[in-house]
This record gives sequence, C-alpha cells and structure tokens, in this order.
Amino acid sequence: MANNIELRLPILISFCLCLLNSVVHCNASPVPVVIWHGMGDSCCNPLSMGSIKKLIEEKIKGVYVTSLEIGDNIAEDTLNGFFMNVNDQVKIVCGKLANDTKLQEGYNAIGFSQGGQFLRAVAQRCPNPPMLNLISVGGQQQGVYGFPRCPGDNSTVCNIVREMLNVGAYVSYIQNHLVQAEYWHDPLNEDKYKKASIFLADINQENVKNPAYKANLEKLKNFVMVQFLKDTMVEPKESEWFGFYKPGQAKDINTLFETPLYTEDWLGLKVLNSTSRLHFLSSDTDHLQFTETWFINNIINKFLM
Ligand SMILES: *[C@@H]1O[C@H](CO)[C@@H](O)[C@H](O)[C@H]1NC(C)=O
Ligand SMILES: *[C@@H]1O[C@H](CO)[C@@H](O)[C@H](O)[C@H]1NC(C)=O
Ligand SMILES: *[C@@H]1O[C@H](CO)[C@@H](O)[C@H](O)[C@H]1NC(C)=O
Repeated sequence: MANNIELRLPILISFCLCLLNSVVHCNASPVPVVIWHGMGDSCCNPLSMGSIKKLIEEKIKGVYVTSLEIGDNIAEDTLNGFFMNVNDQVKIVCGKLANDTKLQEGYNAIGFSQGGQFLRAVAQRCPNPPMLNLISVGGQQQGVYGFPRCPGDNSTVCNIVREMLNVGAYVSYIQNHLVQAEYWHDPLNEDKYKKASIFLADINQENVKNPAYKANLEKLKNFVMVQFLKDTMVEPKESEWFGFYKPGQAKDINTLFETPLYTEDWLGLKVLNSTSRLHFLSSDTDHLQFTETWFINNIINKFLM
C-alpha cells in the first residue's frame, strides 16, 4: 500500500504541475521564431533586430529566436541585402532552416521590410520545415516603383543602387545582381516587369502558375501583413497589403481584392481570407517606426504565443 503511494506520488505531482502549467500554455515548448531583417540592416544590430529578438525572448519564456545572417559576418550580411541575388539568398535560407534541428516541428517567421517578401518566397518554395505564421512587417508584397529614401548609414551604397536603377531595373545584369531591382515593379511597363523580374514576378505567379507555391502558402496558419500608414520609404505603401498601381499609370491603386492575383487566386490568398487567416494590420507611423507596445499587443500576443 505504502509502496503504491510512493510510486504514484511523482506521477500525481507532475500531473498537478501540468494542470498548473496549462493555465499558461501547457506542455509544448514555445514555437520558435525566425527573423529576416530589411534593407540596410543586418541580423544583429542591437538597435533593430537585436532588440526585437530580445523583446520576443523576454515575452515568451524559453523561446528560440534566430535572426538570419546572409554571409559570414555583419558587414557581408548588410551588403548582401543590396547586392546578392534574392533567389540565391532564399536558397541559402532554406538550407539554414532545414539544417536547424530546433525548427523541425515548425516555426513562425517575421520579415521586416524586404525581409517580408523574402520570407514569403521561403514559405512558397520550401515547405520543410513548415512555416506556421508568416508576418510581413512593411514588406513590399507587390514590389516598389520608386526609391525615395535609403536606410542604413552608407550613402555610397545608396548612390550605387540609385545609379543602377537609373540604368534600368530590367537590364539583365542589374536584375541578377541588385536586390531592389528584383522587386522593382514598373506599372507603366507591366509586360516588361513580368518578363524580366527574376524574383517578384515569379513568387507572385505573374507568368507560370506554380501549383506548389499556392499549395504551400495555403498551409500557413496565418499570413499577417502590416502596412505603415505614414510610410515615406515604400512607394506605394499599399504594396505592404498587396495593393499596387493599376497597370498603365502610377497614381490610382488597386487593392489586393481587385487584382487577378486575388480574384483568380493564384496564391491561395482567397482561401486564406475566407478562412480568416489573412490579416491586414497597420501602424499609424513611418516605415518600421512601430512602438514596442504596438509590437507586443499586435504581433507577439496575437501570433507568437
Ligand atoms: C547543412 O548541413 C549539411 C550537413 O551537415 C552541410 O553539408 C550543409 O552545408 C549545411 N547547409 C547549410 C545551409 O548550413
Ligand atoms: C560603404 O560601402 C562601400 C562599398 O561597399 C565601402 O567601400 C565603404 O567602405 C562603406 N563605407 C562605410 C562608411 O561603411
Ligand atoms: C475577406 O475576409 C473578410 C473577413 O472574413 C471578409 O469580410 C471579406 O469580405 C473578404 N474579402 C473578400 C474580397 O472576399
């Protein structure tokens, strides 16, 4: 009898602990988070991605957060955000994610600015390990037509980018080497964009409709898009919600819902919307200028817990 109780006690205790635990999210360890930084930034800047990583770790006890570094060091990572072919970057990231043992049960992804569309490419091209929630914070899902400001502290780099875009985003040498050319979307030359864009036109299914892209995106638990309502860096800012200029001009905007990408459901966004998994969030600020409180309430508490 006494023996029996002794045997059962540990089981009883752990059962009680689990009950207690379940009040705050039971048993499973928290879903890991993968972050991809924006243009002019790097994986590990303590003022940007570094502080985001820290904030997530503070709010979700025991969470594994990895901030992607493309290249062997921070300087390379920053430069690659301008000059490394995005398709190659996505391939590298897919390899990193597949190799990371902590991610194999699935992960949440947060892309900042251009990192937002790059992580969508990862979701569409590399379903293993599975991405659960995709959060695009100011990502240019329909590209940009304009380069009004350039972040980061190297004006030399910004001038090179501008010069290259002036020569022509759709010139093949520039397409293959300049990141920003690879999501340059000229509404006055839609046909040229569709033919020449090696990255954005591909992931947006402008030409060939790759059924895997759609099937993979539909697997997401949620696709969250954040638009910065006072954005002075992204033209047009509506691209952050998948809107873009109507073809043939650069003034009036089609919302996502008015584009064939949605009405003909090239990417599964119609399915995501009809099952309440497509989310349009906004911050009433300039590009990436959200507050910590905004990030905690709208992103961490809603999609990462
Ligand atoms: C993944 O791991 C394999 C085997 O250890 C290694 O050969 C490969 O370089 C790794 N890839 C990446 C992208 O880390
Ligand atoms: C800016 O980038 C250029 C080109 O890579 C480099 O030569 C230069 O040293 C950089 N300047 C600063 C201040 O980092
Ligand atoms: C998208 O989903 C929202 C929320 O469920 C719904 O109100 C809206 O009508 C949907 N939009 C379209 C174009 O289907």
